[in-house]
Amino acid sequence: MAVLLEKSVPVTDTIASPRKLNVDFVDFIDFRVMGDHRGSLISLEGNNGIPFDIKRVYYIFETTHGTVRGFHANKNSNKVMICTSGSCKFLLDDGRRKQVVTLDNPAKGMYVHGLIWREIFDFTPDCVLMVLADTVYDEREYVRNYQDFLREVTASIA
Ligand code: TYD
Repeated sequence: MAVLLEKSVPVTDTIASPRKLNVDFVDFIDFRVMGDHRGSLISLEGNNGIPFDIKRVYYIFETTHGTVRGFHANKNSNKVMICTSGSCKFLLDDGRRKQVVTLDNPAKGMYVHGLIWREIFDFTPDCVLMVLADTVYDEREYVRNYQDFLREVTASIA
């Protein structure tokens, strides 16, 4: 079953906050903004700012109103999520704790590097969510059932 917005979600945070997240396996990266009078530019390179070799880039955009997506964890891939336009929210769940994070800044990356269940919601109409991954797409490394996810967490800490 999905866990979206359960009452047990303890903390609502925003990516702008320097506070450490409650969930494990998630960190934030500040990107260097090369701005001048013309505007801003951010350059992302694998193993230089992005903590892995980038094998895949995908982005989610034109998300329809009210859509909630995600509902999975990845067993073998690490990702940096960047909201390059607009905003959206993530429910992050490491199997023990849950936290809601707002991504709303193109100069911040959310690095998800472990077994984390995520649900993405509250997309603004202009939201472009870009994801950098250290693997090519492989459906076999997706955990799309929440009970299976909890079993994977238990197995990983046994
Ligand atoms: P899906 O995993 O459902 O997206 P989300 O988890 O964000 O809700 O992906 C939607 C479709 O796109 C699904 O058929 C799988 C496919 N897909 C790829 O082919 N390559 C990719 O890198 C990703 C992320 C998805």
